[in-house]
Amino acid sequence: MKTSNVSIMLPIFFFFFFFTTGTARATCRSTEVGHDFLECLNFHSEPSQPIYKALYFPTNSSYSSVLQFYMRNLRFNDSTIPKPQLILTALHVSHIQAAVVCAKAHGLQMRIRSGGHDFEGVSYASISNVPFLILDMFNLRAVNVSIEDDTAWVEAGATLGEVYYRIAEKSNIHGLPGGMCPTVGVGGQISGGGFGNLIRKYGLAADNVIDATLVDANGRLLDRSSMGEDLFWAITGGGGSSFGVVLAYKIRLVRVPPTVTFAGIRMTNNMHNFTDTVYKYLQVVDKLDEDLYIKLAVDVVKDDQEGKKTIRGTYLTLFLGDSERLLGHMKENFPELGLSKADCIEVSWVESLIRWTNFPAETPTSVLLSRIHPAPVRMKRKSDFLKKPIPKKGLEFIFKKMKELETPILKFPLWRNDECYSSFRKTFSSSSW
Ligand SMILES: Cc1cc2nc3c(=O)[nH]c(=O)nc-3n(C[C@H](O)[C@H](O)[C@H](O)COP(=O)(O)OP(=O)(O)OC[C@H]3O[C@@H](n4cnc5c(N)ncnc54)[C@H](O)[C@@H]3O)c2cc1C
Ligand SMILES: *[C@@H]1O[C@H](CO)[C@@H](O)[C@H](O)[C@H]1NC(C)=O
Ligand SMILES: *[C@@H]1O[C@H](CO)[C@@H](O)[C@H](O)[C@H]1NC(C)=O
Ligand SMILES: *[C@@H]1O[C@H](CO)[C@@H](O)[C@H](O)[C@H]1NC(C)=O
Ligand SMILES: *[C@@H]1O[C@H](CO)[C@@H](O)[C@H](O)[C@H]1NC(C)=O
Repeated sequence: MKTSNVSIMLPIFFFFFFFTTGTARATCRSTEVGHDFLECLNFHSEPSQPIYKALYFPTNSSYSSVLQFYMRNLRFNDSTIPKPQLILTALHVSHIQAAVVCAKAHGLQMRIRSGGHDFEGVSYASISNVPFLILDMFNLRAVNVSIEDDTAWVEAGATLGEVYYRIAEKSNIHGLPGGMCPTVGVGGQISGGGFGNLIRKYGLAADNVIDATLVDANGRLLDRSSMGEDLFWAITGGGGSSFGVVLAYKIRLVRVPPTVTFAGIRMTNNMHNFTDTVYKYLQVVDKLDEDLYIKLAVDVVKDDQEGKKTIRGTYLTLFLGDSERLLGHMKENFPELGLSKADCIEVSWVESLIRWTNFPAETPTSVLLSRIHPAPVRMKRKSDFLKKPIPKKGLEFIFKKMKELETPILKFPLWRNDECYSSFRKTFSSSSW
C-alpha cells in the first residue's frame, strides 16, 4: 500500500464525491445503470468473486425486500421516496472498489449502508431526484475476536449485537463500549462515535479503535498507516461516508467484571417527589463513580386507575460491580432514587444488554445475533448537549408541555439518543427486568 500526502486532501475531495451528483470526468456519462456500467463493475472486481450475484435491480424479485430490510426508520419506507437504481450487496472488497470507481465514472451517487439506523435515512433514501445506488455492506460482517491481545477486527456490516455476542462467547471479562441497540451497524456507529453505558469509564466506541481498513474515492484499499492519521481521525467520529467506505475496524477490548449489576426504577409524577428527583439526578449524574451509568427516560403514560395522563421517569442503571457496592454508593450520593436490593439484578455484562434492550429476562443472549428489528417505527429525533442542569422551573415547564403533546420522550444523557426498541414492549413492569 502506498503512503502519500493523500490524507490531507481527501476529506475535502470526498465531500464532493459523495454528496454531489458527480462531476466525475468520464467518457460515458449515462446515469442509467446500463450495459457499460455492468462492464465496468465486472472489469473492476475480482474474477473469482462474480459480482452479478451481488446486484439487485428494480426488476429482480427480491429488490424490494433487500431495500426494505435495513430501513430502520419507517418514515422512509414510502413509495414517494426515490429508489436506488441498483443495490450492490458487496461480497468481497473488490466489489466495494468496483462500486466506487464505476459510480464515479458514470455519475451515479453512492449511498453506503451498514446497519441502516441512520435517523434521516441517509444510507438508503434520496430526497433529491439524483440517480443513486446503495452499496450495502451487510454481507461483510466478520467479527474476529482475539482475547490473547485484547483486540477484535470487526467488519462494517456486523451489528453491535453480533460484536458483543462474539466477545462474550470468548470471555466474560471483556467488553466494548458502544451503542445499546443490537441491530445498529458497526459501519455507521463507530465512524460516528458510538455512545453507550460504558462511556463514563471507557469513552466512545471510536475512542477504542486502533486500526481500520478503508476504500478511498479512488478505489484504493488503505489501512491506518497508509491512510495517515488525519483520515484515521476523521473516520473515528467524523462519520464514515464523507471520507470513503470503511471495510473494518480493529478495536481494543475493555475489561468488565464477571458480574455487573443492572437495575431499573420507574416512577410517575403523582407519587414520589418526581421533579426533585429528576433535578437531583441532573446534579449528580456526572459526579458519580465511573463504574456507574444511569440513564433517565421521561415519557407520558395513562395513569392506571383513572386513565389520566401522567409523566413517568424510567431510570436504567448499569454498575460495573456488585449490588452491595452499588447500594452503598447510591445511599451516599443519590438516596432520593430509593434504589433497594430488590431492584438490583446481578448478571454478566452480555446478559445486562438483554435487560437494557427491553427483552424479557429469560431471552437467550443469542437474540443479539438477530437482524430482525422487533419494532421498527417512524421517528424524528433531536439531540442537544446540556452544559448545566435544567432548573426545576424548566423541568416543570417541559413536563407540562410533554403532557399536552403526549407523544414526545425526553432522555438523559441528551447526547445521541440511546433508546433502542422502546415501543416493542409497552406493557413491561419493573419486575420483568
Ligand atoms: C433505534 C436506534 C438506536 C440507536 N442507539 C444508539 C446508541 O445506543 N448509541 C449510539 O451511539 N447511537 C445509537 N443510534 C444511532 C446510530 O449509532 C447511528 O444512526 C449510526 O450511524 C447507525 O449506523 P448504521 O450502520 O446502523 O446505519 P447506516 O444507516 O447504515 O449508516 C449511517 C451513516 O453512516 C454511513 N456509513 C454506514 N456504513 C458505512 C461504511 N461502512 N463506511 C462509511 N460510511 C458508512 C452511512 O452512509 C450513513 O451516513 C441509534 C439509532 C437508532 C435508529
Ligand atoms: C438480478 O437480475 C440480474 C439480471 O437479470 C442477474 O444478473 C442478477 O444475478 C440478479 N441478482 C441476484 C442477486 O440474483
Ligand atoms: C414497508 O412498506 C412496504 C410496502 O408498503 C410494506 O409491505 C412493508 O411491510 C413495510 N415495512 C415495514 C417494516 O413496515
Ligand atoms: C477474520 O478471520 C478470517 C478467517 O481467519 C479471515 O479470512 C478474515 O480476513 C478476518 N477478517 C478480518 C476483518 O480480520
Ligand atoms: C419529598 O419532599 C419532602 C418535602 O420537600 C421531603 O420532606 C421528603 O423527604 C421528600 N421525599 C423524598 C422521597 O425525596
